[in-house]
Amino acid sequence: MSEARRIVESGYDSVAERYLEWSARIADDPRSRFLGELTGRLDDGARVLDLGCGAGVPSTAALAGRHDVLGVDLSAAQLALARRNVPGARFERGDMTALSFPDGSFAAVTAFYSVLHVPREEHGGLFARIAAWLRPGGWFLAALGCSEANGVEAGWLGAPMFFSSHSPAENRRLLEAAGFTLEVDEIVTMREPEGPATFHWVLGRR
Ligand SMILES: C[S@@+](CC[C@H](N)C(=O)[O-])C[C@H]1O[C@@H](n2cnc3c(N)ncnc32)[C@H](O)[C@@H]1O
Repeated sequence: MSEARRIVESGYDSVAERYLEWSARIADDPRSRFLGELTGRLDDGARVLDLGCGAGVPSTAALAGRHDVLGVDLSAAQLALARRNVPGARFERGDMTALSFPDGSFAAVTAFYSVLHVPREEHGGLFARIAAWLRPGGWFLAALGCSEANGVEAGWLGAPMFFSSHSPAENRRLLEAAGFTLEVDEIVTMREPEGPATFHWVLGRR
């Protein structure tokens, strides 16, 4: 396992409960609007893969209300919370860049604030694998980073944490190269407890 992944895994293992309390204090997170954009396009019971599902709330839980959801996360502590919080979904521990599924396995793949912990030189390859896991016409909804971050923040919620992202233009280029047509492409700033934070929301159709 790379040093970046070790930092992310042990970081979330130690801050899992704190992250949940902290994220619940973000009053203007736009995720429910974008989740609505996705679920309005999916049939009941559709198979959905949630990458970097964290503690499963609020997104995996919202998806599991109507869909057949598999959540994957690198952190055992996050998964323990997710299994408790969302009994209606299945969860597996894994690295999203090292998963394998037969082509066309899912109607949708989601990744809320999680790809930004994967080294950015791997984003293009990850997007291509996600496209292959989707059936034709399937959807990829993600909140991507959009700064040029690429390294370790020493004291994020009390633990070192690795962040890595591209500009919106490069996110778009990589997603389109992977075969996605973007139906939603928005840069949204929300108020985290420490101040404003901006993310690139995309909903791509394979
Ligand atoms: C910022 S949290 C977001 C959690 C959840 N998606 C949410 O929106 O609340 C990022 C999550 O991605 C997970 N993660 C980071 N890198 C990962 C990887 N390579 N494979 C799987 N999960 C990963 C972390 O363990 C963490 O739970």
